Amino acid sequence: MNKLDRLVEQWLQAEVAFGVLEVPIPKAKVLALREKARAAAGQVAAAAKSAPSVRAAATLPPRAPARATPVPPARPAASAAIRPAPVPEPVALKLATPIKDLPPAPPGKLADEPQLSPAQKQSRMAELEKTAVAELSRHLGGSANRVVFGEGDAAARLMFIGEGPGAEEDATGRPFVGRSGQLLDKMIVAMGLTRPQVYIANITKLRCAEPDPINPKRLKDRPPTSEEAALGLPWLHQQIAIVQPVIIVTLGAAALCFLRGEKLPVTQVRGQWLDYRGVPLMPTFHPSYVLRNYTTETRAKVWSDLKLVMQKLAEA
Ligand code: URA
Repeated sequence: MNKLDRLVEQWLQAEVAFGVLEVPIPKAKVLALREKARAAAGQVAAAAKSAPSVRAAATLPPRAPARATPVPPARPAASAAIRPAPVPEPVALKLATPIKDLPPAPPGKLADEPQLSPAQKQSRMAELEKTAVAELSRHLGGSANRVVFGEGDAAARLMFIGEGPGAEEDATGRPFVGRSGQLLDKMIVAMGLTRPQVYIANITKLRCAEPDPINPKRLKDRPPTSEEAALGLPWLHQQIAIVQPVIIVTLGAAALCFLRGEKLPVTQVRGQWLDYRGVPLMPTFHPSYVLRNYTTETRAKVWSDLKLVMQKLAEA
């Protein structure tokens, strides 16, 4: 697939995922443009085949003998002259307040963890899941019927972290399979990836819900408390240490704040690179927030965050 095709496809995928029209012209026109570009590419290739010999014979003057041109003095290497500007810390980070009594992330950089092959990662993750399910099953009851550990490629380059399982996830034991999961799937596809290529996990592995005040027979999901987050975090830190992703994307406030161990305003820090043990972390809105605030502005913000992620993934 050539660059233009990829770009057009990405525009269209973004439109499918978010209804964000990136191209200020109708879709039919985009497709027509694509055809035109293809045809033009074909013509150029055909012309390139025949043109040089004809032109050379008919119009080009005979070549002058090659003259030695003076070599300009070498310029100093750009890297020596231009130092990368230090990345300013987002203003909102200065407003961060620590959350008490959370198990901290393991010390050191993620890159300093033992390097594992993809096969080792898969088997370590399977072992960790067994242990986590056995340990956390003691806390089932109430709103949680199953441990929702996480899923995906244990050797993925990209990791998504959400808040915790909802009703559908609790019923199936899989993360992000409800309505917000369907939007997450579209987001992943719009990024040119598939769900099995990424790893998806949550802060809590158990559903947190309470009786719905409108219909008390039903349960309404709620963000985890610090104690509930503290139960899931040690497992999450280990999951991240196994995957060693190139990039982490946190979905929503709970994922960002509990992972970093500090309260941060997602609306202010989204779209800015943060850090988790030396790994770039992109905070963005939770898909359920996007569904609740389905404005062009919200969707465009998430898509712009994901484009930064795609760019960094391509560079890494
Ligand atoms: N919301 C989350 O944060 N995680 C899930 O797995 C599902 C919904």
